[in-house]
Amino acid sequence: MTLTGDLVHLRALEPEDADAFWRWHHDPEAMRWMTTSYPESLAQLRKRFVDLPPNSYERCSFAITTTAESRLIGCVVLRDATPEVGRATLDIYLGEKDTWNKGYATEALRLLCRWAFNDMRLTAIELTVVADNDPARHLYRKLGFVEEGRRRESFRRDGQLHDAIIMSLLAREFID
Ligand SMILES: CC(C)(COP(=O)(O)OP(=O)(O)OC[C@H]1O[C@@H](n2cnc3c(N)ncnc32)[C@H](O)[C@@H]1OP(=O)(O)O)[C@@H](O)C(=O)NCCC(=O)NCCS
Repeated sequence: MTLTGDLVHLRALEPEDADAFWRWHHDPEAMRWMTTSYPESLAQLRKRFVDLPPNSYERCSFAITTTAESRLIGCVVLRDATPEVGRATLDIYLGEKDTWNKGYATEALRLLCRWAFNDMRLTAIELTVVADNDPARHLYRKLGFVEEGRRRESFRRDGQLHDAIIMSLLAREFID
């Protein structure tokens, strides 16, 4: 199953995608507002991509590729879905910085939310965004996400603490 739009295509991750992810993980600008963990070697990351579990209701990861050139540019994940409520958590990033501000993430999120609400039958999608990440907050608001709360000083980068904003989108609020 793939999701196709005019600008981007969402497909399952492949082992061959590992090297691009490793490069993105070492780009301080792309990772600036992302939660990062301890260093992972290219060999470890490649192995992880070979052993990826199948996508499922609980966790579904998509590679974002350009429709025109099938170029891998980023990743979007829906995780921790709860069947009782139908709510899942979203993460997105575009590792290829030359593709920023061209509408790719807007379309990727529209494709994903449409599928999640119509086919997965989710009722809500939530996410956490660092308060200083203005482009991401603008993007989420544009799709209808609203702020639910603030985790004060819960994100640390380069020794500085930043607030994180919790946002959610109810199915009926989605601006498609
Ligand atoms: C955030 C991110 C996913 C956006 O992807 P993108 O493809 O550039 O997004 P789009 O082009 O679809 O939309 C970006 C919007 O932000 C706006 N924007 C850009 N810089 C901005 C700023 N400093 N302040 C406010 N809005 C800004 C753009 O104008 C555009 O809005 P518009 O369509 O109304 O004009 C991408 O920049 C990214 O991956 N960043 C690094 C990782 C990250 O921060 N991920 C999110 C973690 S919560």
